[in-house]
Amino acid sequence: MSESVSNLYQDVILDHSKKPRNFGKLKSTTHYARVNNPLCGDKVTVYLKIEGKYILDATFEARGCAISLASASMMSEMIKGKKINEAIALFRKFYILITTEQNVHNDGLGDLKALSGVKNFPTRVECATLSWKAMEKAVEEIGY
Ligand code: FES
Repeated sequence: MSESVSNLYQDVILDHSKKPRNFGKLKSTTHYARVNNPLCGDKVTVYLKIEGKYILDATFEARGCAISLASASMMSEMIKGKKINEAIALFRKFYILITTEQNVHNDGLGDLKALSGVKNFPTRVECATLSWKAMEKAVEEIGY
């Protein structure tokens, strides 16, 4: 990765972690779940408004590092308006991006590509996936 791309990715991560989008409780929550990172004790709660098979709205509350906040912020933006199964598929794709050298089709990953460097720091995978696991847990009972 060139230095300029790497700097750009750092800027994207910093922007999301310093100004997290969709931070806070969601008044119209229909489903929510909280998960904690066993490695550091940090927590993320994801709030969703679901109608039928669609995620109409998504917010989160978190205490965690820049990686976990950035990932949660990106997720909250990207899953809005998606079908539940599409949000789960996005999580799977993102997981491959940050855990393997496999060439992931970048389409649809948006800002999440900025977190691709996490694969070089295996202990940070937990940070990057915390909010996604909370989202998955929140929709568990619905099925997808
Ligand atoms: Fe706690 Fe990353 S160090 S979530």
